[in-house]
Formats: sequence, C-alpha cells, structure tokens
Amino acid sequence: MSPKKDETNPLLEGLELRRRPEDCTLVIFGASGDLTQRKLMPALYALAFRDLLPERFAVIGAARSEDTDEGFREKMRKAVEEHARDPFKNEVWEKLAEGMVYAQLDFSDDQAEGSLARRLETVDAERGTKGNRLFYFAVPPSAIGTLVRELAERKSAHGWSRLIIEKPFGHDLESARELNALIAESFGEDEVFRIDHYLGKETVQNMLALRFANGIFEPIWNRQFVDHIQITVAESLGIEGRASFYEEAGAIRDIFQNHLLQLVAITAMEPPIDFTADSVRNEKVKVLRSLHTPGPKSVVRGQYGRGFVEGAEVPGYREEDGVDRDSKTETYVAAKLYVDNWRWADTPFYVRMGKRLARRETTIAIHFKRAPHPPFAESAADGLRPNVLLIHVQPNEGMSLGIGAKVPGQGMRLQTVHMDFLYGSTFREGLPEAYERLILDAMLGDATLFTRADEVEEQWSLVDAIVAGWTRERPAFPNYPAGTWGPPSADELMHRDGRSWRSH
Ligand SMILES: NC(=O)c1ccc[n+]([C@@H]2O[C@H](COP(=O)([O-])OP(=O)(O)OC[C@H]3O[C@@H](n4cnc5c(N)ncnc54)[C@H](OP(=O)(O)O)[C@@H]3O)[C@@H](O)[C@H]2O)c1
Repeated sequence: MSPKKDETNPLLEGLELRRRPEDCTLVIFGASGDLTQRKLMPALYALAFRDLLPERFAVIGAARSEDTDEGFREKMRKAVEEHARDPFKNEVWEKLAEGMVYAQLDFSDDQAEGSLARRLETVDAERGTKGNRLFYFAVPPSAIGTLVRELAERKSAHGWSRLIIEKPFGHDLESARELNALIAESFGEDEVFRIDHYLGKETVQNMLALRFANGIFEPIWNRQFVDHIQITVAESLGIEGRASFYEEAGAIRDIFQNHLLQLVAITAMEPPIDFTADSVRNEKVKVLRSLHTPGPKSVVRGQYGRGFVEGAEVPGYREEDGVDRDSKTETYVAAKLYVDNWRWADTPFYVRMGKRLARRETTIAIHFKRAPHPPFAESAADGLRPNVLLIHVQPNEGMSLGIGAKVPGQGMRLQTVHMDFLYGSTFREGLPEAYERLILDAMLGDATLFTRADEVEEQWSLVDAIVAGWTRERPAFPNYPAGTWGPPSADELMHRDGRSWRSH
C-alpha cells in the first residue's frame, strides 16, 4: 500500500508534525542477536518514550534459540536499560512490553511458518493490529532468502506486509540481483525497505537541508568552484568478535558498498523535484551509475597490524580471534572516484574508510578552489588555506566553514578561521538514533531514506569492478599499525595529485 506523499513524508513535514503510524505488528527475525539488543529495542523504547508508536502495536521476537515470552521481555528490558538514550521509565517500558512475545522458529523446519502464522493471528486478535505486518530481517544475509520465500507464500490476506532488510544486501552484484528478483516475485518495491542506517542519521539528512534549503550553496556546488571532495568513515574499533562476518565482507563490503557510496550519492546528487522516495532515489541512482575509479592505482587497501588506539595496545587483524593468520581481508580502503556528469566532471572524490584508525570520525569535506587572484603579499597569506566546508556526520555532529580573515593588528596578515554550527549547542534536544527514524518511516510506508533495488545493484557494480582488480595481486599485509590513519600508499594516492588528506 503506497503512502500518500504529502501525508507521510517526514522530510516535508518535520518529525513533530508526523502522522501516527497505522496499527501494526513488528516481527523481528534475529531477536536473540546483537542488533536487536543494541539498536532495535532501544529505538522502539525511544519511540514509545515520545509516544510515536502506533496506538495498537505488538512485537514478535523470532529466532531459533529457545526462550519464553517472559525470558525475552526480561532480556529486552535489560537491553533497553543498558543501551537506550532516554532514562528508563517503568510505565513506558510496561506499555511497550505488554505487546511483546517471543516465537522460537527454525525456518529449515517446515512447521515454522505455520507456527508464526498462528502467532501472528493470535497477536492480531489480542492487540487489534489489523493484519498489518512489518518484518525486520536482523539475521545473517544467508538466512534472508529462506525467510523471504516463506513469507511470500503466506502474505497477510488483510492489511499490509513490509520487509525491512539489513545490510549487507547480497555479497556481490549477482547475489544482490538474485535477492532482488526473489523479493520482487512476491513483494512490490514499495513494500521493501533496505536499510542503510547512515541515511537515518540527522547529519546525513542535514546535508539535504544544507544543499537544498539554502540558496547560497547550490550555485557553487560544482566543478567550477569545488577543487575536490574528501569523505572519511573512520572507526577506532576493531572487528568486535565478528570475525566470520568480517573475513567474508572486508571493509569494501562492510562500509564502502553501502554507507560510503550513499554519502557520495547524497553529496553529488542533483536537486530532486520533491522529497518523495522516488524523486530522491532517482537522483541518487544517477550518481551511482556515473561513478568510476580511474584504475587500480586509484584504489588502496590496507589491513591493520598491532598498535595503540587511545593509549591501549591492541592486536593486529590477523591476531584477532577467528581470523586466518594469513588473512588477505582488507580493513581499510581509500579510493579516488569520479562522477561522470556535467556538474562533477574531473572533480575527484577521495574516499577512505577503515577500522582501528586513530579516531572515530565520519566527515564530508568540500574543498573549494583557491580565490582566483588574492591581491595580498604571499607572506601575508601564509596562514590561509582554500575554503573547506566540513560536515561532521559523527561524532560532534555539525558543520564548519573555513574562511580567510584578517588577523587583528597593523598590516594585512591573513589566517583561516572557522564558522561552526554544532547540533549539541544549537538544538537542546538530543539527536534521535538512526534506527528510530528508519523504523518509524517503514511503519509509515515512507521509503525515502531506504535504498532502492537499482541503487543497491549500482553500488555492487562498482564494488565488483574494484574487487576484480584485486584478485590479480597479493597485498603485503599488514600495512598500517592500529591507531594511525591508514597505509602510506593512501597518502601517496593524494600526493600524486598534489593534494593531501585533511589533517585531524
Ligand atoms: N550488530 C550491528 O550493529 C549491525 C549493524 C548493521 C547491520 N547489521 C546486520 O544485521 C544482521 C544481524 O546482525 P547481528 O549483529 O544482530 O548478528 P548476530 O548477533 O549474529 O544475530 C543474528 C541473529 O539471527 C539469528 N539467526 C542466525 N542464523 C539464522 C538462520 N539461519 N535463520 C534464522 N535466524 C538466524 C540468530 O539467532 P538464532 O541463532 O537464535 O536463530 C540471531 O538472533 C546482519 O545482517 C548484520 O550484517 C548488524
């Protein structure tokens, strides 16, 4: 069922003016997992705390592990106490928990779907959720196909059925196409919500506000005024016990294929005609389709060795539990990308991402060209750098514009100063977690902040092309110590172009 665009689109309306979602049941597959406890349940609690959930609402937690309704509620309560951003209020929790049950299911067993269907019917009858179902797939990618097939056979006869699918969506272009085709056999694109939680972040959405709500930026947002763009997604954490997933995925599938390419798309896209899901995604997909790297030399990969992060010694990637001692998996990627269109031709987008880097930081830096003819003596402009608009996606969310100013005193001496906007000090309210926004949007049927099938496939096409180049050479890993900003070859990538990574 498609939403009426002017009723439901939060980018048009603002969160506080939003319609309450229709009554529904949220089924979480993977309810015994990490994502459910650290992100999904705290997000549901935050929505309950602000009275944003449907009036009649239920949660069915489903997984293969044994549990009871009481046991599940108790675990979820602890998860909320530990991870929620709001203080724990018993009355809020009790209201949420009264509609929460657990279903032990193993979909390799033929009886499983029958038992889920019965549970759903009971919940519908008891909670009045009208057959509306939101299925959240918080399971390993290998489990998704089976679940889709099972659900397809028994779509709700009344009410709507929607799927939220976690990343990574597939492992390469072929598997993503297969999964898209399987889903499309039974579900319309407006029923599928592929999550890239970066799109739920306030600062990523603020990029749209910055570009399209201000008349001053769009005229200079192009190759004539922008020298280059740098995007950094740096984590100080290692693989946090997820060796089996990471050995398969590496940095290119874990972060580059999804979060990073979405940041490129949002930075480079043309203004959409409106903020409906299709208009925004049409523009993003055009960017993704026109992306390329100029060749293997423009992509650098790395893997961390032993080092120090925030003062503590940490093991190298190959020393982590569950990792092959000779692993070739990359934990770092840097690349030069081009967007082949009228606006961006010949303007490099330098991107880098990695684990165990010096600091956690996600930033988009727009480096503008130098002023064409500064009429100052060279010595006066020593401290002056070209303008940079820096968007802090996380942490310290906000933005900063570097501009040249005169240093007070006799004579003309110039220096770069910063105009800063910080969310924390400007808006008193804490920022919502991305998952709050995304779960609510899926309940409202608004897919604007989710990735469409063709977007995912374009992202994989670029990744497949890069990975194909890699199979020909053996990397000399590890090539950067934990706690640094990556391998020297990433600096060389910039130096060859007479540029350098933004200093920290
Ligand atoms: N954790 C995060 O912060 C995070 C962030 C972004 C994306 N994701 C994605 O979210 C998904 C879940 O991640 P996670 O970290 O929660 O993983 P996890 O801790 O390993 O949990 C996986 C869940 O899936 C269930 N499961 C495993 N194999 C299954 C199968 N064959 N059929 C049905 N259920 C199965 C597991 O429960 P049982 O064994 O009891 O069935 C468990 O509840 C993954 O796709 C991951 O890439 C996670």
